[in-house]
Amino acid sequence: MHAWLCTEPTGVQALAWTELPTPAPQAGEVLIEIRAASLNFPDLLIVQNKYQKKPPLPFVPGSEYAGVVAAVGAGVTQLKPGQNVACLSGTGGFGTHAIAAADLCLPLPDGFSHVDAAALIMTYATSHHALADRAQLQAGETVLVLGAAGGVGTAAIQIAKTMGARVIAAASSAEKCALCRSIGADASIDYSQDNLREAIKTLTDGQGPQVIYDPVGGDLSEPAFRSIAWRGRHLVVGFASGPIPALPWNLALLKGASIVGVFWGDFARREPRSNAAMMGQLAQWYAQGKIKPVIDRTMPMAALPAAYARMGARGVMGKLVLVN
Ligand SMILES: NC(=O)c1ccc[n+]([C@@H]2O[C@H](COP(=O)([O-])OP(=O)(O)OC[C@H]3O[C@@H](n4cnc5c(N)ncnc54)[C@H](OP(=O)(O)O)[C@@H]3O)[C@@H](O)[C@H]2O)c1
Repeated sequence: MHAWLCTEPTGVQALAWTELPTPAPQAGEVLIEIRAASLNFPDLLIVQNKYQKKPPLPFVPGSEYAGVVAAVGAGVTQLKPGQNVACLSGTGGFGTHAIAAADLCLPLPDGFSHVDAAALIMTYATSHHALADRAQLQAGETVLVLGAAGGVGTAAIQIAKTMGARVIAAASSAEKCALCRSIGADASIDYSQDNLREAIKTLTDGQGPQVIYDPVGGDLSEPAFRSIAWRGRHLVVGFASGPIPALPWNLALLKGASIVGVFWGDFARREPRSNAAMMGQLAQWYAQGKIKPVIDRTMPMAALPAAYARMGARGVMGKLVLVN
């Protein structure tokens, strides 16, 4: 097998495409032949030692992937060789094979594409947990999605629309805004051109959005929060732009508004039953055609550094998927 090995978490340049012995699964594990692995922003942070989780070295990055079970370890009865699965295991996905805990693998229905399966779990689960659970989004409310053409952003647009909300997508180019409208956003703001506060005011008749979905942070968060509606909920999803914003607390008082943290990974660990119910809803929405990952492009697994560069340069629209 081959995999992208991180021996020093100093950045993408330190990763090496390395031949490794193909491991045998231990008790409770499976060996997966990887067909597709998607790039999530945390995959970038983890190789730069900037992610909250620091795996022991060396490790293979790649949090989310799909493929075919090649072998099962002792005690694994729910999966068998030849079965198609998706897996979100935090690391291991950027290679030709991976060992994963059988409990982390979701069997795929016949005909489910590996590319969609690899691109679905993290972004849609994060956005569903954020909008439905943390924000308690109601039909008819307006959601402002920042970084709306990215992975979690495109998922947030589709989920908010499925829940009956009005969506304003905000992104950094006309091309990104057009993509957001093509997948259901009702209106868009190009924040590389338009004044964010003025544009929000115009698009909401001065009322502001009830919910702000914020995976970007930095300079966007404060003007967005200053525009929020009475009783609004500002979802703290991530800081893709780098800086973690600091807000004057009086702004929350003035709007009776809430700053609401979102950490899907810990939600899944701490509240597994609620998470399983949510995943069931997402599977149903996928089958009904209400949600579908936006695939920026597929690239060969060996091209991982170029894929990382595209994400770091804000080039990815939707999800970038590496394939074997
Ligand atoms: N809380 C959770 O549970 C959770 C789960 C998954 C991901 N996240 C976080 O959510 C954020 C987005 O993840 P993602 O996978 O959707 O990433 P992504 O596809 O790369 O999207 C991030 C978006 O952020 C914007 N951005 C602004 N400045 C940027 C910069 N300097 N570099 C890169 N992007 C920049 C870009 O949109 P524009 O160019 O339009 O500004 C980009 O489309 C990350 O911070 C990630 O860690 C959180």
